[in-house]
Amino acid sequence: MAINWFPGHMNSTRNAINDRMKAGLDVVIELLDARLPGSSANPLLAQLTAGKPTLKLLNKQDLADPERTALWLAHYNSLPDTRAIGLDASNKAPAQALIKACRELAPLRGGMVKPLRVLICGIPNVGKSTLINTLVSKRSAKTGDEPGITKVEQKIVLDQDFYLFDTPGMLWPKIAIEESGYNLAASGAVGRNAFDEEEVALELLAYLRRHPAYLDMLKARYKLGEVEGLNDEQLLTEIGRKRGAMLGGGRVNLQKAAEVLMYEFRQKVLGPISLETPEEFKAWAAVAEEREAARQAKAAARKNKRLKGPATRAERDASLAAPENPESTELDEEAEREG
Ligand code: G4P
Repeated sequence: MAINWFPGHMNSTRNAINDRMKAGLDVVIELLDARLPGSSANPLLAQLTAGKPTLKLLNKQDLADPERTALWLAHYNSLPDTRAIGLDASNKAPAQALIKACRELAPLRGGMVKPLRVLICGIPNVGKSTLINTLVSKRSAKTGDEPGITKVEQKIVLDQDFYLFDTPGMLWPKIAIEESGYNLAASGAVGRNAFDEEEVALELLAYLRRHPAYLDMLKARYKLGEVEGLNDEQLLTEIGRKRGAMLGGGRVNLQKAAEVLMYEFRQKVLGPISLETPEEFKAWAAVAEEREAARQAKAAARKNKRLKGPATRAERDASLAAPENPESTELDEEAEREG
């Protein structure tokens, strides 16, 4: 799916993280959306902070499927140098658990001489400002900039020897995993003008109906009968009809139906739903990796062929006779640039 998002702060945030790595960093807190932990993890962050212990905060857990949140927490807690905690805005005192987990991840740091330096990151809309406001109003103070560190970074003193460095929410330029694009869009992480709502709603429906517990939620909310015989578009039409998303002449307004479905998913009107399990995400990532490898191999083969020139006389004649195709040249060049 094409998502026309503009990774606004990307460069300045990337520089801020690089500066923080140089200045000293002990633990990275990655704020994830508990409904889509894999898809809301920024691959750029993993690259920029490689080797640093990580605390995964699965935020908005009030909206997520608790069984799946438990799976994700177990998954992350089984990884080396990684801890995970579920969280939501109803938790009015998250600092204690957060500080404890970070201290466990960097046991050699602490005390005034070696304060713990923690970076907190997350994609836009994941709830970082809400969390930081709770942390700040409870027990800490935002302080000014540190010399040598870009102004993008905010330092928050959470405890005498515990510094939290905050950076603006950062997106990444290309979503390699197709399902992640749909899940980010469905969750509200991407502005509504950046994608086709009907397409995203249809993918959301397709996912929900594949999971019996979620299909039951759909049936209950929209008072649907049997839906096995309906394709996704017919199902969305039925939902639109049930929710009064009508055009003149008895036709259903699919755009409106898509908006209603996504709104009700985001507000938990359907029930607590998560859009991926660790296993599903792993499988999607493997497919994306294979696709990317195939794309790169194809681009390399094309480049190779062009450098060598036509191999046989017949190919030479054919290439001389063939008219220039500007479109394919452009595509080839683009593929090479990306490769
Ligand atoms: P950001 O700094 O990461 O961009 O996110 P921010 O804190 O602004 O939160 C984005 C939206 O998510 C806010 O809703 C906020 O109230 C909501 N939110 C944050 N934490 C939680 C949580 O744990 N559970 C739930 N259910 N919601 C949470 P908003 O201002 O209404 O924005 P929007 O929902 O209209 O985008």
